[in-house]
Amino acid sequence: MKNKLQSSITVIKLGGSFLTDKNIPNSVRKQAIESSIKQIIQATLTLDHNAIIVHGGGSFGHPMALKYKIHQGLDTETPNQDLGLALTHHKMEELNGIILSEFLVRGFPVMSLPPASMFYHNSKGLNFTGKPQIESLLELGVTPILYGDVLLHSSPNFSILSGDRIILELCKSLGPSRISKVIFVFDEDGLYIPDPSDSTCNILKLNLSYSQLENLEITQKDPKIDVTGGIEGKLQEVRKIVALEIPVQFLNGNVPNNLFKAIDGQKVRSTTISYK
Ligand code: IPE
Repeated sequence: MKNKLQSSITVIKLGGSFLTDKNIPNSVRKQAIESSIKQIIQATLTLDHNAIIVHGGGSFGHPMALKYKIHQGLDTETPNQDLGLALTHHKMEELNGIILSEFLVRGFPVMSLPPASMFYHNSKGLNFTGKPQIESLLELGVTPILYGDVLLHSSPNFSILSGDRIILELCKSLGPSRISKVIFVFDEDGLYIPDPSDSTCNILKLNLSYSQLENLEITQKDPKIDVTGGIEGKLQEVRKIVALEIPVQFLNGNVPNNLFKAIDGQKVRSTTISYK
């Protein structure tokens, strides 16, 4: 058992569009999953860091949530929403199981913490009770895995909790000083903005600051089924993470060894967002 409690934490978001083909329900991108998992294992075994992994819903969570309008909350006009709520959670567990197995077959200890049972929305807002479990896992040398999930509300009601919102909560609750950075792994080299001098081109932004994030016009390659606000929803959470002075990096998980290098602090083609 490896005790690296004092090591800094890298929070890694494996985006749904990277892990799955968002246009085909229940489709995984096996090579992408395997490659990113191997890099996380190698980095965690050889570098002085702890990882916390959060993954998205991609073609598992989003289509099911959309079908039953789970993201819009309780709606008496939509039939069988109770079943849809359960199915959406189950779809996420299914994808989570696939990811979990890829770690475990390689003999690497990871454990899932289902967000639906650690997050609750009450009259005061989002309530997170998972800090002690995460601390214990890190202390035991087991890498925690969380994922976008259904969110139960008081009243009662429900919505969808994105992996990005979960990351913000982890950053706040574990404390910014312990988290060295948040890496968003997706299927593009970083964030692109429209080229002001040529409307047919986009420019990859290598560096961005907190203030530049406001009103930033991001180009989306091909918008996919998304119940959590797409890139705009993601950037809202990212802004709050960067405000905690935690740097955020967006990188392409399809480029060999990119993720390992980024965890190691090596330079890779990507977008880095820092507070200043
Ligand atoms: C979505 O999580 C979870 C569900 C739809 C249940 P995310 O919003 O983090 O997923 P991706 O990364 O965009 O696919």
